[in-house]
Parts: sequence; C-alpha cells; structure tokens
Amino acid sequence: NKQPAATATATATTPSSDEQSLASPILGQNEYVTVIVLGASGDLAKKKTYPALYSLAKHAFLPASTHILGYARSNLSTQDFTSRIQPGLKDSDPQRIAAFVSKLHYTHGSYDQPQDYANLDKAITQLENTHALPGQSKNRVFYMALPPSVFIPVANMLHAHCRAHNGAWTRVIVEKPFGKDLESSRELGRALAANWHEHELYRIDHYLGKEMVKNLISLRFANMFFGAVWDRHAIANVQITFKEMIGTEGRGGYFDEFGIVRDVMQNHLLQILTLVAMDRPVTLLADDVRNEKVKVLRCMRPIKTQDMVLGQYGPSEDGSKPGYLDDKTVPAGSKTPTYAAAVMFIDNDRWSGVPFILRCGKALNEAKTEVRIQFRDVPGGHMFPSTLSRNELVIRVQPKEAVYLKLMNKEPGLGYKQHIAELDMTYHERYEGVRIPDAYEALLLDVLRGDQANFVRDDELDAAWSLFTPALHEIDAGKIDPLVYPYGSRGPNGLIKFMAQYGVERD
Ligand code: NDP
Ligand code: BG6
Repeated sequence: NKQPAATATATATTPSSDEQSLASPILGQNEYVTVIVLGASGDLAKKKTYPALYSLAKHAFLPASTHILGYARSNLSTQDFTSRIQPGLKDSDPQRIAAFVSKLHYTHGSYDQPQDYANLDKAITQLENTHALPGQSKNRVFYMALPPSVFIPVANMLHAHCRAHNGAWTRVIVEKPFGKDLESSRELGRALAANWHEHELYRIDHYLGKEMVKNLISLRFANMFFGAVWDRHAIANVQITFKEMIGTEGRGGYFDEFGIVRDVMQNHLLQILTLVAMDRPVTLLADDVRNEKVKVLRCMRPIKTQDMVLGQYGPSEDGSKPGYLDDKTVPAGSKTPTYAAAVMFIDNDRWSGVPFILRCGKALNEAKTEVRIQFRDVPGGHMFPSTLSRNELVIRVQPKEAVYLKLMNKEPGLGYKQHIAELDMTYHERYEGVRIPDAYEALLLDVLRGDQANFVRDDELDAAWSLFTPALHEIDAGKIDPLVYPYGSRGPNGLIKFMAQYGVERD
C-alpha cells in the first residue's frame, strides 16, 4: 500500500482552494518523513501535538506515507499509548481516526543514554524501511515536547545518534521556554548551535501560528490605505492585550518560576508587536521577515520596572475563587506577577514617541487577545465643536477573530451629529463556515514545508531577552511588590492612570 509521499489519504477531507494554493508543496514526490515526538507521554503532546497532526491528516495536509513515532521514558505499548492519544482526536468519522491511529507508533527510553538513542534510531530506520518508497529521501522531524531541563542533552543525543541519513533533512522543533533570561537563553542557543544549523531549528511561539497574527502581514502590506497611515504621524498609541479568565490552576509550580512577563509578554506579545511595527519585508521568505522583526527589536529600549504595572491575583471578591498564593504549588509569599502592563518605545523614524502598551494577565474578567491601534485626534475646531472619538483599528486574535475599524459617522437622520460606528469584519460572519486551523497545526505544516518565517530566529530571541532581562532580574530579586487584584476583576488599580499617562484615551 505504498503511495507517493505527497498524496493524501483516501479518507481525508479536500482542502479549500485557498489552502491548495500554499506557496510551496508540503513534500516533494521523492521525500518521505517520520515525525518523532519526544515527551510523547506528556500534556503538550496529548493536548496539542497529536491533535494538530491529526487535523493535518484529516484535511489532507499530512503526506500519506508519514509515520509518527512517540518517544518517552514511560514504558507503554503502542496500543496503550494510542488509547491515551485517541480521545483527543475529534472527528465523527471513525474510519479516518483508525487510519491515523495506524500511523502512530511508540517506543520508550531515557533522555540521556546513548544506547537508548541508538535504539530510537533503529526504530525510525525500521519505519523508514517499511514505509518509504524506493528512492525517497528519508527525512526526520523531531518535536521536543519536553521540559526545558532536558532540551540540551536530548538535542545533543539526537545529533549524535538520530540524524537523518544519506543527505535527507532533519528538523528539530523546540518548545518554549527558551531560557529564563539573556544568559540562559544564550547558553541554550550555544548548546543547540554546537550541533544544529539554524535552518534546522524551529523555535515555537505558538502565537505566530494564530490566524489573526499571521493576518497582520496581509492587512498591513496588501492594503494601500493602512500602509499610508502606519506611523507616528497618524498613530497615537498601540495596545496589545492578552487576558485570560483562568488562574494558574495546577501549573503554579511552573508558573512561579517564570511569571507572566516571561510566560506571555516577552514572547507572544513581543512577537505581535514586531509584526505590527516592522517595515515591509522584501519577500515573505523566512529571513526577509525575520530580518525586519529583528530590526524593530534592536531599535527598542530595554524596559524599566518604572514603566510597568505588576499585579498578582488574590481571591475573587465573592471568595469562590482562590488567590494565586492559595495554590499549594506556589511558594508562600511569592511575589511573582500574574499581571503585567508595560510601555515600550521604538526609536526609529516610523515610531519615535509612539507608546506600545503591552498588557497580559491571568484570572481576569474576560478572555481575549487583541491589537488596538489608536489613531491621533482629528482637529475638531469650528467644524465639529463636539468631541470626536479617535479612530481605532482593532485586530481581535481571539476569541471570535475579527478586524474592525472604529470611525466617526453622521448619525442617520435629519441631524448632523457624529457618532462612533464600526466597519466590522467579524470572521464567523464574513467567512461563514470556514475552518480556522489551530496554531499548532499551522506551525507543524510550516515545519513539514521547511518554512521558518513563523518561528523565532536565534538573533530575534537574543534581542527579545535583552529588552526584558534587566527588569526581570529586578522582579526576580523580589524588589517589586505586585499590586493585588481580585480574581475575575479587570486587573490591578492604577491601570487606568498608567494608560492615561501614555495618552490612551480610554481603557
Ligand atoms: P510535561 O511535564 O507533560 O512533560 C512531557 C514529558 O516529558 C512527560 O510526559 C515525561 O515523559 C517527560 N518528563 C517530565 N518531566 C521530566 C523530567 N524532569 N526529566 C525528563 N523527562 C521528563 O510537559 P508538557 O507536555 O506540559 O510541556 C512540554 C514542553 O512544551 C515544555 O517545554 C513546555 O514549556 C512546553 N509547553 C507546554 C504547554 C502545555 O500546554 N502543556 C504549552 C506551551 C508550551 P516520561 O516520563 O514518560 O519520559
Ligand atoms: C502559553 C502560556 O504559552 O500560552 C500559558 O504558557 C497561556 O500560560 C497560553 O495560557 C495561552 O495560549 P492560548 O493559545 O490559549 O491563547
């Protein structure tokens, strides 16, 4: 039952015409790939990696002959392993699930013993010999869904024992966190670079796989009118906001070591900022895009704690939800922030003087991620004696993806008063019934296609850490007492004043 690699399985759904027009083929006819998930017994693999691979298969984006090999220390049979994974695969077609499950394999071993990696190499080779067509190159994707403590030894062992043979390519997917500060990130970077070329490394920031984050490039550079007003002359401020309703529930141990600034701001929000602020890349090729992003980061000043508001959630006002410090996995008296607002500036021609306000927090009153671009005031004068509201362009990343522009409009009727109205492109109305893929699905497809544009490059990471490390060290040293806000509230008091200080008209 051998088929050419690029052919879809018989049971997969047909991709839309737009999806079919992907810039490059997924794999060439002469290519075969095995995806190896390290840490396959873990939470990320179960919640994200396997469901994303399944969704690719379901929508005919996983080359038919691809096989997926899970690896972890837990001693499980392939059958036990697949019965763990299967409940996470959502589909009403049992045949399609069965076809995918038949491609799943599992083998166990340590993360530090050479012999175990030699065995892993044998297991991969066996799959290749069984499923690749004669003459196909046998490529390998390693997905490190592992705790960061083992990234370096695993990357070294994979290089020593498990690289693809005979000129086929090997790609390594690395999950965050990429270090805890500039120094530890550089240490990880050096260790990876000792054995792997940058073009082989795919550092995931899953926000780069989100539909509306990817759309920023189209909105900005495929529309004449946005391009014309995208600078300090027209824009008063840019707000990038991430709000979650849940607290750290169960992840307090991990979270307390990192805090919200590392968990969300330094990566997800900063990535969005660079896409909002960068100049037009020459092409959409990975290095053209990433060169522009790095240029933005290098024009920014390191953040100071004086330019931040830090908060930590306490119990909800009605006492039904526990505070951060009530979580048993959180050390007593921890000052780790669960909320952060920060202002950053980009010292270049386009953005000089424009505040970029980043806000992120857990246990808040709503869940949303959005970019809000607030334009400058229109002079009212004698023409419009009543106050005009500022134009705003909002890109809602989640939930309910949307792009809308708030503008002043004449109130319909006999009068001449202006009021705010919206040009609204809410996705579920404009693109009714169109599926928006999960970020991990989009990113895994990019890895198979060898497109690194939505992955974080080493120098980009370095520049990002440089901006946050001094403030993070101050926070880590316990020098700042976070402001306590109730679980389920809008965040710490003082936020409105903080925003107003940077000319934000309203929160
Ligand atoms: P887990 O804690 O579930 O670990 C994954 C697997 O690694 C485990 O099943 C276990 O497998 C092995 N493992 C756990 N602890 C150790 C250890 N101390 N030494 C060696 N192996 C260990 O992690 P997640 O799946 O939650 O996360 C994996 C990576 O993805 C991390 O880097 C995380 O930061 C990142 N990530 C996770 C997200 C999530 O939602 N979970 C979201 C975004 C990023 P076994 O014992 O069988 O070998
Ligand atoms: C992760 C953070 O990177 O992103 C989590 O570690 C956060 O704390 C999550 O909840 C948010 O991702 P999403 O896709 O649910 O918005």
